[in-house]
Formats: sequence, structure tokens, C-alpha cells
Amino acid sequence: MRLRSVELEVPDRESAARFLADTWGLLDAGERNGTSYLRGTEDLPYVISLTRASAPAVSAVTFSGTRPEILAIRKRAAAAGARLGAIRDFDEPGGASGFCVEGPEGHVFRFVATKKRAKKLRPDRDRPLQVTHVVLNARDRDACTRFAVDVLGFRLSDRTGFMSFVRCDRVHHAIAYAKGDNSLLNHIAFEMVDIDAVMRGIGRLKDAGFETFWGPGRHGPGNNVFAYFVAPFGAAIEYTAEVQRVGPSYKVGKPEDWTWPPNRNDHWGISKRAHPAGADFGFRPLSS
Ligand SMILES: [Fe+2]
Repeated sequence: MRLRSVELEVPDRESAARFLADTWGLLDAGERNGTSYLRGTEDLPYVISLTRASAPAVSAVTFSGTRPEILAIRKRAAAAGARLGAIRDFDEPGGASGFCVEGPEGHVFRFVATKKRAKKLRPDRDRPLQVTHVVLNARDRDACTRFAVDVLGFRLSDRTGFMSFVRCDRVHHAIAYAKGDNSLLNHIAFEMVDIDAVMRGIGRLKDAGFETFWGPGRHGPGNNVFAYFVAPFGAAIEYTAEVQRVGPSYKVGKPEDWTWPPNRNDHWGISKRAHPAGADFGFRPLSS
């Protein structure tokens, strides 16, 4: 199983697509049925889709796997009484079939078997490889984490005082739940080739008039380098690199394993965390 894409709805699709391609570094992966698709350099047909809507929203966080993996999740989700969409084909780059399932706080996950793999492109320091994690706010992050582990079949990697990190492959986290008073999208992280690519990204965004609201820095859990921005369409987005890969023997960290000295919330301590003023991206409920 692998995190594949995030499906977004935005009022101004064209300008969001322009920013993600011209400034953020994604590549145009075409347009169909009124949806724009953007890809990274890894072998995924696309990593972000943009559909026009009156208000910003996330329609799904998409994972791809084999058909048996997907059907096993569907079986557990049905047994757990989770809200499920029908199994269907999706007309999108690469072609896919699968279904959507709603988590306990309305976070919508889509599980698909992709029909055609995209060609991997040459890695480029000015372009993201792929989406590597999505952080979701949660009122009850323990209930959400239980759903991810028991129903989706993910593994808990770490639990800090504010966040729970779960993985679906060797990448330290594909989803993290952040303790909050809402269930909105927290941010989307794009994996870059290396630290240099993250730093170059900060420079490119600066040239375009965007400052980080946090970073550069290096996180505790996942040990990844980070730089956070608010995109002009209102979502918080992150450049990241060196995300830790872990195996079955990884020891799950507890809150007491992840503490910082006073006034520190990353390894480097060179950047203060500001509170971004972006748009709220809630999850659109399943329609079927
Ligand atoms: Fe992140």
C-alpha cells in the first residue's frame, strides 16, 4: 500500500494549478472532466487533483495497492460499520478502480488499484518526487488512529503529545493525526530529492513572494527536514526530505520519548513556528 494522491476542491482551479506547476514544481499531468492533475517525478500518474468548487475541500486522500489489499480493507471497513462508497472505476490518469471509506471524523480515504503505472522521471532538485504524508486534524486522535490501524491496516510509528503517526509502507508516516478542535486538513507534504532541494524550494518560493510559516527545520518523529508554506489557494503545504524509512522492528515512540527542551519544537531551532492564515479545507462527505 502506498500513499498516492490528494484530491482537492478549490474555487479557482486554474490559478491553483498554475502555482503548483510554475512555483511549487509539480508537472502538468493533464485535465479531464473539469479536473486538473499534477504529478511529481516518481512513478505515479498524479499526486494532486484539483476540481473547481464553491468552497475549498478535500474529497479524498488516495492510496494505491493491489486489488486483494484493497478488498481486504473493504471487508474490514464493512465489518466495522464504516461509511463506504461503492466499488467503481475512476476516470483519471493511469485509470483506477476502488472505493472510498470515511474515518470516524469524516476524513475520506480512497483505496484504488491503479491500472497503469506512470513512467518514473529523472529526479530534479526543483520538483517534488511525490506526496509523502498528509496530516489531518482530529478531535479524537486516538479513535482516528485506531481506525487507521484496525480498519485500514496501517501501523502506528510514533505517538507524541500532539500527534499520532501511522504508516502503510516503509515510510515513517503516510498519515498523521494532530490533536485539534476540528477535523480539517492540517497539511500536505511533498517529498523532495534531498535537503538541498528543500532549501532551493524555500528560495524559489521566496522569489515568488512566499515565506515559510515554519522552517527550515528537522522534525523529531520521522527525522525529516521541513519547510511549510501556505499556498495561494489556502492549503498548508510542506517541502520535506530525508523522511525516515522504518521496518517491522521499529520501536513505537511514546509521548515521553519525544520531548523538546523549552522553546524548541524541532532539532535545529532556527525557525519559529507561526500560525498560518490559510483557508479551511474540510472533507466533503461521501455522496454514496
Ligand atoms: Fe509534515
